[in-house]
Amino acid sequence: MNDLPDVTSHYSSDGLADRLIAILEASGIDRDSITEADLHSVDQMHLRGRTAAREFLDSLDIRAGDKVLDVGCGLGGPARMAATRYDADVTGIDLTEALCDGARQLNALVGLDRVHIEQGDALAMPFTDNSFDVIYTLHVSMNIADKAGLYREVTRVLKPGGRFGLYDVVAGSGGPIHMPVPWATHSEHSHLIPSDAVEAAANAAGLATERSEDQSALVETYLDNQRAARQLRVEKGEPEPPTGAPVIMGESFVQKQKHIYRNLKEGRIAVRLAIFKLKED
Ligand SMILES: C[S@@+](CC[C@H](N)C(=O)[O-])C[C@H]1O[C@@H](n2cnc3c(N)ncnc32)[C@H](O)[C@@H]1O
Repeated sequence: MNDLPDVTSHYSSDGLADRLIAILEASGIDRDSITEADLHSVDQMHLRGRTAAREFLDSLDIRAGDKVLDVGCGLGGPARMAATRYDADVTGIDLTEALCDGARQLNALVGLDRVHIEQGDALAMPFTDNSFDVIYTLHVSMNIADKAGLYREVTRVLKPGGRFGLYDVVAGSGGPIHMPVPWATHSEHSHLIPSDAVEAAANAAGLATERSEDQSALVETYLDNQRAARQLRVEKGEPEPPTGAPVIMGESFVQKQKHIYRNLKEGRIAVRLAIFKLKED
């Protein structure tokens, strides 16, 4: 019998939103005055955090009123950013109910209830064909073995001519990854494939590549700078800035962060940003 917990238990824990809000309060921000931008230090579940999300979303050319879908929206950080930044009509879908709950609570906290959060599987989305102008995903396909199924589903709900963007961790050439990592405790839940295979799967589903970029060096520099800044704070006895990492990644967050750094430095993983356009009928 397979008694492995499913992907959602990896991401689930109680009271996520309240614990993240408490982190912001401890840094001196009053609960009633927390803004969408304040949440960025605790609600971005991907490498290079808010900076990566902003640059990635900007490259999708989202217009006011566009219907946008965030696949694997987690706590809704990028979805709220997209709604605020471009005045778009954003829906987020995620497999993990605890994260959907957290996302809805954070939406309500900052007055963004119009960002609609739906619990569901990226491989069988509860949306009709040709529903969205733009679809994107950040750090999700690492949990999904069936890449062809994922991109098939994306192309089904994306309007012809619409854009799809991904910002994901992919397999490097350096060998098996050190576990655990932020997206998986068990290797059975980590489904990394090389970036050319990701692109081939997307292309085969009808998504034409507009841009494809290895962002590993950017992420490495970011992590090196973070480490140096932390060391300086320790030396000066300064407090740590607010971070959602311990709440989001749980007890082993330090080990998971170390493994990300090591896997990247040893070429076991890479970080890919790609933008595609769905062929017109
Ligand atoms: C690392 S988190 C990224 C969350 C968010 N995209 C962000 O960057 O802040 C990965 C997310 O993918 C979701 N996920 C994994 N497999 C999924 C699936 N088959 N369908 C929908 N969501 C999925 C998880 O529940 C989790 O919220």
